[in-house]
Amino acid sequence: AETRHYNFEVKLSPFTKLCSSKKILTVNGEFPGPTLEAHRGDKIVVYVINNTKYNITFHWHGVRQVRNPWYDGPEYITQCPIQAGKSFTYQIQLTTEEGTVWWHAHSGWARATAHGLLIVRPHPSSSYPFPKPYAQIPIIIGEWWKEDVMEIPKNAKKSGGEPLLSNAYTINGQPGYLYPCSKQETFEFTMEKGKTYLLRIVSAVMDEDLFFGIAKHKMTLVGKDGIYMKQIKTDYIMITPGQSMDILITANQSPGMYIMATRSYSSAFGAGFDNTTATAILKYSTITSPNPPNPFFPHLPPYDRTEAATDFTKRLRSLRTVDVSLNVDTRLFFTLSVNLMDCSNEDKPCAGPFGKRFAASINNVSFVTPSVSLLEAYHNRVGGVFTTDFPENPPRKFNYTGENLPKKLLPTSFGTKVMVLEYNSSVELILQGTNVLASDNHPVHLHGYSFYVVGWGFGNFDPKNDPKRYNLVDPPEETTVGVPKNGWVAIRFKADNPGMWLMHCHIERHQAWGMNMVFLVKDGLAPHQQILHPPHDLPSCYN
Ligand code: C2O
Ligand code: CU
Repeated sequence: AETRHYNFEVKLSPFTKLCSSKKILTVNGEFPGPTLEAHRGDKIVVYVINNTKYNITFHWHGVRQVRNPWYDGPEYITQCPIQAGKSFTYQIQLTTEEGTVWWHAHSGWARATAHGLLIVRPHPSSSYPFPKPYAQIPIIIGEWWKEDVMEIPKNAKKSGGEPLLSNAYTINGQPGYLYPCSKQETFEFTMEKGKTYLLRIVSAVMDEDLFFGIAKHKMTLVGKDGIYMKQIKTDYIMITPGQSMDILITANQSPGMYIMATRSYSSAFGAGFDNTTATAILKYSTITSPNPPNPFFPHLPPYDRTEAATDFTKRLRSLRTVDVSLNVDTRLFFTLSVNLMDCSNEDKPCAGPFGKRFAASINNVSFVTPSVSLLEAYHNRVGGVFTTDFPENPPRKFNYTGENLPKKLLPTSFGTKVMVLEYNSSVELILQGTNVLASDNHPVHLHGYSFYVVGWGFGNFDPKNDPKRYNLVDPPEETTVGVPKNGWVAIRFKADNPGMWLMHCHIERHQAWGMNMVFLVKDGLAPHQQILHPPHDLPSCYN
């Protein structure tokens, strides 16, 4: 195994898009940021210097960080942020992950512009579980705002309403030819006729699930979240914020130009969303004419077509048969809700519904981010930073997905609560969406782990009958799972990675409103079952 070194200079850099210019927070002046490449089992060392006035941390989304939560990155969970002018070196030990994962800032809204691919190729002595592709095509889907992105959370917090929607989706930083002033910069990739390419796709968008497709080319999904999967042939994918996918395409059409396009899959009726379409172009190398023919456009499902989304996700399967019939010893049932809270600023009404402000919760607890690192507080036995009373079940049973739920369900409690798991406990967790204020999709990401998605459905989880239909043979292994609107998902994992691990909705507004919780997985008895020592250069929690 090798060690690969990268430098991340966090700085503000000028960009011009959608006919106007501004400075955005970048890594090394790039948007999207630099691609990290390694082989399975390698170690990646990233030296970060923060040359902005903003706090920053980085997360390696999809990397387990076995026994090493110190370098996981979410601010105030595993570390305090890297302050202006300060530096920190992340050490990322790759273990079982292979395929496409990604990195992003994990501090406020910085991840909107500070993100990039993390490509893990097979170990040099091994190979892909499919014929070796001729080349890879990196595709990172992002968003562009005309406003200053770093101000969006502050403004949303002040008003209590929704954060500002983006003005465009982007593919590799470019909105594509359908947007004003964007045609020349549309991302293009040239393919050789007859060759097979590996698309490495990441959704780095903040607030919406997406459909993505390529004109006239069937896609074959071979991996997701840095884990290989059974092959799925499909015309489109549905990808949630936080997910990554490995997809093969073969240039087997007549030479020409073919559009890749992405746009929202949005099921939250009433809520606004960016309903624009980002495009990029795949071009065959054999087109020579100075005026290439009009490009072909892919068929994408309509933005509100939930069946199209679930038709795709229900096909996901593990590559191999796995053993998940483990004796579950910890059964958890978490509700995911969007709620309302009173405005602290009573002199003017809040911009949320009923003059209130939005909140969001898991089991009716809205997560309150502390001002020092939870992991450090735990490791140094500092009291008063968190409590260990995160509830195993919602405070009361109700018809989670019913219409017109009683208003008394709207308020939440607030706290920095963690759930303690014994080392090696076998966990089954039901993630139940609710319709408390409004229902929505919730792409839930668990740090430090991958998990098996053994079941899912619409409506309320039925503990009697739904488990009978679990897939305990080849359930997909994922690190970010889309909990469908007004539905539920059942996941299983073995708590064999000690540390403080954040779990949250990867829709940024839900996360900002409090849809987060933390698992504290205890050390095992043997030294190799325990958290490693903290780095010496952990950023200070004080100015
Ligand atoms: Cu993609 Cu908590 O992260
Ligand atoms: Cu959500």
